[in-house]
Amino acid sequence: MKKQTEFELRKISESVFDKSTLMTLYELAKDKKLDEMVGIVSSGKESNVYHGFLGKREIAIKIYAIEASEFKNMDYYIKGDRRFPAWRNRRQLVYLWAKKEFKNLMRVHEEVPCPEPIAVEKNVMVMSFIGEGGVAAPKLKDSPPENPEEFLNEIVGFLKAMYKRGFVHGDLSEYNILNAGKPVLIDFSQGVLKDHPYADELLGRDVKNLCQYFSGLGIEADEGEILGKIRK
Ligand SMILES: Nc1ncnc2c1ncn2[C@@H]1O[C@H](COP(=O)(O)OP(=O)(O)O)[C@@H](O)[C@H]1O
Ligand SMILES: [Mg+2]
Repeated sequence: MKKQTEFELRKISESVFDKSTLMTLYELAKDKKLDEMVGIVSSGKESNVYHGFLGKREIAIKIYAIEASEFKNMDYYIKGDRRFPAWRNRRQLVYLWAKKEFKNLMRVHEEVPCPEPIAVEKNVMVMSFIGEGGVAAPKLKDSPPENPEEFLNEIVGFLKAMYKRGFVHGDLSEYNILNAGKPVLIDFSQGVLKDHPYADELLGRDVKNLCQYFSGLGIEADEGEILGKIRK
């Protein structure tokens, strides 16, 4: 890593990251998956998202908290997912969780608009940045579409395309859809394969959330009809 870059990284990371996360960031930088971290985009209970660069390309860096994580919730989604082994401790579970989001993005990113996965290492995931100049595209919740009907149809199309790839998002709502002129799906850590024991329940909930949000915009959509379309 360049000297100047190291400085940038240190500037925002000194008091923010634990030693292990800092080492992971250096590891990613050494592997040319991350050049620069510039600032924070979002801070949540379970993860923070940062804006940065890989060369000239803008990237988003999602860092999962080891300690604050809602352990039980994660277990709910990992258990029954045949892609992942049993875990032994909290740290291991959080690493699996990050890997799960990465793998989920790998599975669908060519099918639907979402961040392109770039790398995952321990509790850090690097992906393409949705937005420009360090400003993330707004959430649908804060930026309702001008053409709600078209947006809804597009999103239903995305759910169908993902389902065809054997995948259910599992945490879909106006908080996890960005409005970049077109809808872009994010936050794939809860996503499960179609054969997961909770897949149907999660798909039902995704569609319900979607219909509820769009009914607030005056679009009366039928949940059952949409589910039928997705499963067809
Ligand atoms: N690839 C990305 N590009 C730009 N902004 C992002 C990206 N991923 C996440 N964000 C921003 O970070 C916020 C939180 O990310 P998200 O994946 O939803 O995590 P969580 O909801 O678990 O905190 C999003 O609402 C969005 O503002
Ligand atoms: Mg989210």
